[in-house]
Amino acid sequence: MYQAKIFFLLVWIVISLQIISQNQTISINTANTSLIMSVNKNKLYHNYYGRRIADIPEYKQILNFKHESFRYEAYPVFGGNYIEEPAMRVTHTDGNLSLCLHVQDVQQKEIDQNRTETIIKLKDAYYPFNVSLKFSAFHKQDIIESSVMFNHEENGDVKIHNVASFFMQFDKRKNYLTQFHGDWGNEMMMKEHLLTEGVKILDSKQGVRTTRTQNPSFIISFDQPAHEDMGEVMMGHIAWSGNWNLLFQLTHEGRLNMLGGINPFASQYSLKKGELFETPKAIYTYSSEGTGRASRNFHSWAREYTIPEGKRFRPVLLNNWEGTLFDFDQKKIASIIDGAKDLGVEMFVLDDAWFGNKYPRNDEKNGLGDWEVNKTKLPGGIKFLTDKCKSNNLKFGIWVEPEMVNPNSELFKKHPDWVIQQPHRTIEQNRWQYILDLTNLNVQEFIFSVIDNLLTQNPDIYFIKWDANRHIMNAGTSNLPPDLQEHIWIDYTRGFYKILDRIKQKYPQIIFQSCASGGGRVEYGALKYFHEFWTSDNTDAYQRIFIQWGLSHLYPANTIASHVTSVPNHQNGRVTPIKYRFDVAMSGRLGVEMQPDHMTADEKAFTKQAIRNYYEIRDVVQSGDLYRLRSPFGNNVASLMYVSDAGDKAVFFVWQMNRTVGMNPEPIRLKGLIPEAKYKITEINTLNTTPKSFVATGDFLMKSGFIITTSKWASDAANTISFLTDFDSEVYKIEQVK
Ligand code: GLA
Repeated sequence: MYQAKIFFLLVWIVISLQIISQNQTISINTANTSLIMSVNKNKLYHNYYGRRIADIPEYKQILNFKHESFRYEAYPVFGGNYIEEPAMRVTHTDGNLSLCLHVQDVQQKEIDQNRTETIIKLKDAYYPFNVSLKFSAFHKQDIIESSVMFNHEENGDVKIHNVASFFMQFDKRKNYLTQFHGDWGNEMMMKEHLLTEGVKILDSKQGVRTTRTQNPSFIISFDQPAHEDMGEVMMGHIAWSGNWNLLFQLTHEGRLNMLGGINPFASQYSLKKGELFETPKAIYTYSSEGTGRASRNFHSWAREYTIPEGKRFRPVLLNNWEGTLFDFDQKKIASIIDGAKDLGVEMFVLDDAWFGNKYPRNDEKNGLGDWEVNKTKLPGGIKFLTDKCKSNNLKFGIWVEPEMVNPNSELFKKHPDWVIQQPHRTIEQNRWQYILDLTNLNVQEFIFSVIDNLLTQNPDIYFIKWDANRHIMNAGTSNLPPDLQEHIWIDYTRGFYKILDRIKQKYPQIIFQSCASGGGRVEYGALKYFHEFWTSDNTDAYQRIFIQWGLSHLYPANTIASHVTSVPNHQNGRVTPIKYRFDVAMSGRLGVEMQPDHMTADEKAFTKQAIRNYYEIRDVVQSGDLYRLRSPFGNNVASLMYVSDAGDKAVFFVWQMNRTVGMNPEPIRLKGLIPEAKYKITEINTLNTTPKSFVATGDFLMKSGFIITTSKWASDAANTISFLTDFDSEVYKIEQVK
């Protein structure tokens, strides 16, 4: 009798466990969002993503009427009755083109107070093919990271055609897509349009510097175009330095499906038995307070969890590139270092052209790959320069472009097979250079040793600018067999990460800047290794406002390298006043690329003052919350501000975009302050004028704000900003008066 009872109890436990797994609701919550999925008849369904739902219902009841439907699968795969863009498509070893994934197990665990991890294990109904969906949720930031791991035990290679890092769907609404599009020197231009039926793809097929023309980021605004402070938006990103894609499909019924990850283009991957494949992460957030909140979510997540030392202040630096280009010697650099010291920066960075002897790097055509100091230009070696910096109390940084090689180099003559190339084809040059084949272990070792030697021989190097000035063409490698040539895109990126993993492990203290012709490698796959990026080769302050505005949607200010150069810059930028250039650059990670020896006394005086001011506002700019106040797109003035965590400090920037006498822009009202707090508002970076200063409550500043005028007869009230000449701008430091 007793045994029978135990038996029935066990049976009951097994049955109820079965029921739980058959009808389970999976909810992934953050402070303000919920992602809800459910399991029904072994299938994984998507139920909801959006504003947080307090009481998650038992989805088995809600799903009853549609549980047979294929349309709502959370991770729909190709081969069954699913006829839209699938999240995954493979060919099994026996040629079967289909997948049919059943849920095996769901595990959810708390990593710490702010993070939970959910792993949903799926398995093919017939084939030994396993897929795990992983979701890491960041409570405070309302961020979810999603990735997919899979392997198989089939006898042979399974061909992977595509695998999305995330799949998301929304019921019928109006969907406005914002993309970040552009070109070299004009990166991150924001464009928004209403999605119509069909498929819209954003992608890169460039292999390297994949963000030059399109950033792997998007905003979907629901019901109405995106707004800074209002409305529901989803903001997302693919953290991958290789080819990526994002696909938005508005189905015939008006549902929105979206997915993204590694670009499947020419990228079929043969997965061996037992080999584990892990996709890059997709990162997304949902905000019901517009794009401003979504950006702050991304910034906080990035500083806390992704970019190296996200809360360490980035040094103010002087880089010699725009000041000298290729034309320098030791004497000139030594004088620039003295000048840098005098201007008050914290670090000097030696850019391109310090290397190559047989093929001296005196222009773009020579020497890339030959990483020994050019003895004619720099007879004292790097040591002379690091010593020189040390005696001036400056840190030292250096430029490298280790993935690349000029045909005119000792490296290429020695290892012509190390470059990416296809049989029977001319190797395409881009900026007179070839690209090294990072799928090749010898090449990986070579690149590691370039950095390793540089850093061991010069222990005073503090910062490395890692450039990559071309993309992949002639995709092909002698390192892989003919049937695996398409692996090149993925294996190149993995090779890049492997090298960086080794370097970062050995040199965790070095600050790394990602640069790829300026804004070509700006994404969170690289930003796991790089503290910051070189924003754009275009340093024209006016155009930088647009570029940095776009970037600010995804990237925090301490990653956005923003340098003041002389005017017109070497790409013929506008002749903007030095104040305007500093007022723009100080909204990011400030740097200087002027040649001190060519600066006038006035320019020097202004630069010194501005750099001193930056040190006072750096904590708020580099770690505060961003509030975008007025967009440069379509407005006569642009403005943004940063507010400290505690709300006791802020910095407010306002820049004139297009001056029309008589224009009367709306007042600019501040955000993020404490209404009842009293603040002292002090203008900084003033040019031979007495800085304005006044006291006002947060309430006043946020409701009444600043009046903008173009007329000198307008009010002279302290909160009036008069833009009387072209390229006017103002910056204010705001501090709570206790
Ligand atoms: C790229 C970078 C520049 C500079 C040059 C040097 O264009 O974006 O900042 O380093 O290379 O060749």
